[in-house]
Amino acid sequence: MSDVNDAGGVSAGSAVSAGSAVSAGSAVSAVSVTSVRVGDVTVLAAQPELTIRRARPDEYAAVDELIDAAYAHDYGPRGTSTDPMHLAEVRDRGYEVWVAAGPRGELLGSVTLRKLGGRALHEDVADHELDLRLLGVSPDARRSGVGAALMRHTAELAAEAGFGAVVLKTAPDMHGAHRLYEELGFARAPERDGLWIGGSRILDLFTYVLPLAVLPTAAVADPDAARSVLGRFPSGVVVVTGGFGGGEGTPAAGASDAGVSPAALVLQSFVSLSIDPPRVLLSVGKRSTSWPRIAAGTTFAATVLSDSQGELARDIARPGARDKLAGVSTVASPRHGHPVVLGGSAWFECAIREEFDGGDHCIIVADVLGFGPLQRAELPLVFAGSRFAGLREA
Ligand SMILES: Cc1cc2nc3c(=O)[nH]c(=O)nc-3n(C[C@H](O)[C@H](O)[C@H](O)COP(=O)(O)O)c2cc1C
Repeated sequence: MSDVNDAGGVSAGSAVSAGSAVSAGSAVSAVSVTSVRVGDVTVLAAQPELTIRRARPDEYAAVDELIDAAYAHDYGPRGTSTDPMHLAEVRDRGYEVWVAAGPRGELLGSVTLRKLGGRALHEDVADHELDLRLLGVSPDARRSGVGAALMRHTAELAAEAGFGAVVLKTAPDMHGAHRLYEELGFARAPERDGLWIGGSRILDLFTYVLPLAVLPTAAVADPDAARSVLGRFPSGVVVVTGGFGGGEGTPAAGASDAGVSPAALVLQSFVSLSIDPPRVLLSVGKRSTSWPRIAAGTTFAATVLSDSQGELARDIARPGARDKLAGVSTVASPRHGHPVVLGGSAWFECAIREEFDGGDHCIIVADVLGFGPLQRAELPLVFAGSRFAGLREA
């Protein structure tokens, strides 16, 4: 028996059809969900006496014994190993050693899994795949569903963590184990066979893959779904103001003097389109009542709001409201006198250049005539999932 054997030490036989275990996300088609997770422990509905949990440090030696016994049972005794990965204590540092325990806490099986965000156990395994090693079931506990339970648990963890597949490697003659993997939905991937170390194939192992990548899909024709899924893309928020002629040098106060209140609307679709020359792109709903008033003036101001201005954004976004800036502290933009909202994080003054059809929105391309940072430049307001937030260090 080689030092580098992998997920071979499990003789499944009829264990799967015994309807044993249980637990996996809906993404795993071949796996039914009848387990209960209590914290980090899975209790199997069909085998309430079996729990699956992380190995405790005081169990490392027992896990080593169990794996030795399992592999000796299948392959014959192995010589003294120098591979530190054969020690559960070592594996549990960079990976996760899981155990299946019986009603009195006795260890019946174990498997070692890649950690979320951790290194793969095999060098030919991709970032989005969870691979496993050293799946072993105590010889006394064979054919009781322990191996299947550990594998289902593995599939569930992988699906929950967002991995796209579970990958394992096993010896070509482990026919019982192959049956188990196939019952669980794994498929042979002959093109990925072999155990690879340093780019060399050092052992003939079969590779099995359980694909998990079933993408949740919403109906494209459903506007609520579109709003909700597209809303997961976060953006900043601007207030666009204008709409009172806006001739060069017109002061904002002049507009008020004339009794015409400026129009204002809130946009998240304010995108830097070009740096040289500086241009921005906006997308404005065709039902907006404020935009036609702004567009008629051909120039506008945009204030990038700061994280304390979520409430203000909601107020200004109210469809059809007149005099949206009443009570809001503003200062006139330098060239055209459009209101810039104080307390924001940046201001722009723009001239509409082109307009394109974009479905239920118009795409506006505008030249940037002037811009500058405001007091709260480092603290922009963020809009995502219909909520306002500020920036947090990632
Ligand atoms: C955070 C936020 C972002 C918005 N982004 C846009 C946008 O990108 N395009 C748009 O047409 N309307 C957007 N709206 C809606 C408009 O601000 C406004 O409600 C709509 O134009 C109706 O107002 P009106 O009739 O006064 O124009 C947004 C609203 C909020 C609260």
